[in-house]
Amino acid sequence: MAEPLGDLTRTHTCGALRADDVGADVTLLGWVHRVRDLGGVTFVDIRDRAGISQVVVRDDDALMTAVKRLRSEYVIGVRGVVQRRSDDTVNAKIVTGEVEVLAREIRVLNEAKTPPFQIAEDSPVSEEVRLRYRYLDLRRPRLQQNIGLRHRVTMATRKYFDANGFWEIETPILAKSTPEGARDFLVPSRLHPGEFYALPQSPQIFKQILMVAGMDRYFQIVRCFRDEDQRADRQLEFTQIDVEMSFARPETVYGVIEPLMQAIFQEIGRDVTLPMRRMPYAEAIAKYGSDKPDLRCGLEIHELSDVFRDSEFRVFKQIVADGGTVRGFAVPGGNRYSRSQLDVLVEQAKQMGFTGLIWVRPGEPPLSSVKALGEPTLRPALDRVKAAKDDLLLMAAGPGDTTSKLLGQLRLAIAKKDNLLNPEAFEFLWVTEFPLLEYHDEDGRWYSMHHPFTSPVDEDVDKLESDPGAVRAKAYDLVLNGSEIGGGSVRIHDAGLQSRIFTRLGISDEEAKLRFGFFLEALTYGTPPHGGIALGVDRIVALLSGESSIREVIAFPKTANALDLMAGAPSPVDAKQLRELHLKPQK
Ligand code: AMO
Repeated sequence: MAEPLGDLTRTHTCGALRADDVGADVTLLGWVHRVRDLGGVTFVDIRDRAGISQVVVRDDDALMTAVKRLRSEYVIGVRGVVQRRSDDTVNAKIVTGEVEVLAREIRVLNEAKTPPFQIAEDSPVSEEVRLRYRYLDLRRPRLQQNIGLRHRVTMATRKYFDANGFWEIETPILAKSTPEGARDFLVPSRLHPGEFYALPQSPQIFKQILMVAGMDRYFQIVRCFRDEDQRADRQLEFTQIDVEMSFARPETVYGVIEPLMQAIFQEIGRDVTLPMRRMPYAEAIAKYGSDKPDLRCGLEIHELSDVFRDSEFRVFKQIVADGGTVRGFAVPGGNRYSRSQLDVLVEQAKQMGFTGLIWVRPGEPPLSSVKALGEPTLRPALDRVKAAKDDLLLMAAGPGDTTSKLLGQLRLAIAKKDNLLNPEAFEFLWVTEFPLLEYHDEDGRWYSMHHPFTSPVDEDVDKLESDPGAVRAKAYDLVLNGSEIGGGSVRIHDAGLQSRIFTRLGISDEEAKLRFGFFLEALTYGTPPHGGIALGVDRIVALLSGESSIREVIAFPKTANALDLMAGAPSPVDAKQLRELHLKPQK
């Protein structure tokens, strides 16, 4: 039976008591973490968000009887006096471990059913059960720490932006479609039959309009919605630190975001060295086969085409003659791989899509998987990738970007397998000068690589019509340990250029007017040059807390199947609700 809270007032959290408090009368409120009945004495660990305290019950018959009722996860109030623990019971693992509370009163404020998994232990539990009982999962130390860290990250962010003259401004959730490349979530309008709001994929258009409106420096910690396939680093709804600045060049944005990252990393006691590295997109693809390279391991990809142009190996020679490339990288210590390990690697490469992967062991003479390759070719190739004698050279040939991308995947797979990615290291990188447009063969059209409001690099504007693929954008991504944690750009502030981009994207004047007419009009009323960025809060907190999925840093995430297992969403609605929204179910 539950007793009332009555006059019980918390004096300390369960993580607060220290040796200095010995002798104090205290009241703790929390959950029963564990009960240990040792006959003449019973220990009750009481837990709240701040930690655990040991409560001891002895020499009090009424209390000894009462305490027998206690079960894990009961909610209790304890009144007692703080005393020093005996030397043999001091627990150095917890901050309250020097003291205990000698109970004078224990009140059961609520009982609890036996939980489907242990809160007190970090035992493995299926994700389905964890998500169904998320409120219990959230009681466990791991998630309490992650959610606490997330709070500190958003607080540090707000403090930083406030100190730097940014205003936090809310933008609508019931909005109009924003083109970020994903599917929209639509909300039917009751008052306007047949019409829909779209949930924002990002506040992109609103934040640009805030610049037109003279708000100068904006930020918002904001929920965004994208109906796309779920992955470990993707949710249907996720949170951005969204930023926009007037009169900004890319460097202005880097100059604001780098110290922000420093402030955020202070929250886990880590220094971030500034300035961060920068690398044009083309270089990132060529050297690491990725627009979000993980720089914690070297394994840089090198161009080897010139070495093979006149070589005795006809296959590579022909590929180079036809305009293709040969590229490769050195695997540190890879010479220790056995022959069968190499066979596995070659097989793995085939499954990734390589037409062939060639390995070379340095040595006198070097030894290669291709007999036709002799020392005069292998030696310069090994020198080019700077392979030491313990290393292994891996090479592939084909179209430039494809070859680099495949080698990039292989590079990461090897780095993971050989533990070359130090979990303690944080390697930031700005990837810059993305292409503005990418061509999709399926429908023979150009698409924006980021979004259609991204400004081209000034000197490339002339190529918009003649050579669209060569136009670079004033766009940048912030990458941390191979994960894209942010992306942004300098925007187009000229209505004429904005229309030209829409034309390039195959969006007719009519369609542009229908979809973004209000925005194009706003641009004509004195728009300052401006730019910004959005950072992924979930991804940042996951990296800070060493979690491999953002689900571990979101209080109520959806499953990989886009379900809320706790609340049971999505769910059918009744016919009346549908009628009011002027919707008819298809089945
Ligand atoms: P972008 O689409 O690159 O840019 O998003 C910015 C950052 O948000 C995070 N992110 C996600 N996190 C979790 N789940 C998702 N589904 C998801 N999608 C994106 C990533 C990403 O880098 N309006 C532009 C920004 C701008 O140009 O200022 C935008 O939204 O960390």
